[in-house]
Amino acid sequence: MKKEKILVIGASGQIGVELTLALRKIYGGAQVIASDLREENELLKGTGPYVSLDVMNKEMLHVQVIRQGVTQIYLLAAILSATGEKNPPLAWNLNMQSLLNVLDIAKEEKLSKVYWPSSIAVFGPTSPKDACPQHTIIEPSTVYGISKFAGEFWCNYFHQRFGVDVRSIRYPGLISYKSAPGGGTTDYAIEIFHAAKLGKMYPCFLKADTHLPMMYMPDAIRATIELMEAPAERIKVRTSYNLSSMSFSPQEIHQEIKKHLPDFQISYQPDYRQHIADSWPKSIDDAPARNDWGWKHEYDLSKMTAEMLKNIG
Ligand code: NAD
Ligand code: SER
Repeated sequence: MKKEKILVIGASGQIGVELTLALRKIYGGAQVIASDLREENELLKGTGPYVSLDVMNKEMLHVQVIRQGVTQIYLLAAILSATGEKNPPLAWNLNMQSLLNVLDIAKEEKLSKVYWPSSIAVFGPTSPKDACPQHTIIEPSTVYGISKFAGEFWCNYFHQRFGVDVRSIRYPGLISYKSAPGGGTTDYAIEIFHAAKLGKMYPCFLKADTHLPMMYMPDAIRATIELMEAPAERIKVRTSYNLSSMSFSPQEIHQEIKKHLPDFQISYQPDYRQHIADSWPKSIDDAPARNDWGWKHEYDLSKMTAEMLKNIG
């Protein structure tokens, strides 16, 4: 069997650090090349190779893929929802061009697989709010959501037209403690734990009753690897799969944290991110992921809260 050589682009980010470490456990440190525009994350140091790489420089990316004998790419570089609204042209440019560069190189070099994440941000105000299904009205209202929606169809196109085995998940808001989040609307659900552990009041930028789909990082990493390892014939959705584990509001996560830290307080100071959150569904139906490749979540709000509080220093 051919040995895979994996390139993770955006490896120093919130997902990249944990995904790179998980891939290195499976494939071996030397087989997984971490890359990013920024410096190597501390947690990655000594666990495998790192290259400094700008995914927008297609020629350099292509050279790296050939020189390192890369067979799979995980593309995680992107500008997320909240940062994207501050600079829409930058978000569109990075989110689209990075994907097109990777898909083109995958086609040319006949890579075995590509992974690229989409987001619940593809859904907009006209999508169903509760248990939002895989196939529904999709009219995103943020530049981030528009770029993810367009990206999903580029993935589908490269699969149908050129046979590129590109796979994707529409992640909910991801909650983790190992590396900092990168400018999303769901970042409050990470900040709140840090404030609680410091014994500070948390000024939440969303309203108390804003329900959003969320997931604990270990579930997201396992889903990603399970999707990528599933036999190709089981992957029926070539745009991007809905994925779900929990949905909660700031008020509900506050109450859950208070079970461990009874004095913890929150205040509500909604800002421009409220508008983004209001455009997204409250919860997601992920039946196709469960049926096609056997997705099952492990963490709910109470299990995740206990782990987050235990692990944040
Ligand atoms: P992040 O911002 O934490 O990490 C992105 C990384 O990409 C950063 O380390 C950044 O330095 C790097 N990067 C930016 N521009 C680059 C470039 N030109 N060349 C190389 N690297 C570059 O983001 P994340 O939260 O880890 O998200 C990763 C992917 O998952 C993104 O596509 C994001 O849209 C998607 N996603 C994330 C979430 C979430 O809650 N974190 C939810 C849904 C989807
Ligand atoms: N967590 C991401 C964001 O808020 C969702 O894609 O932007």
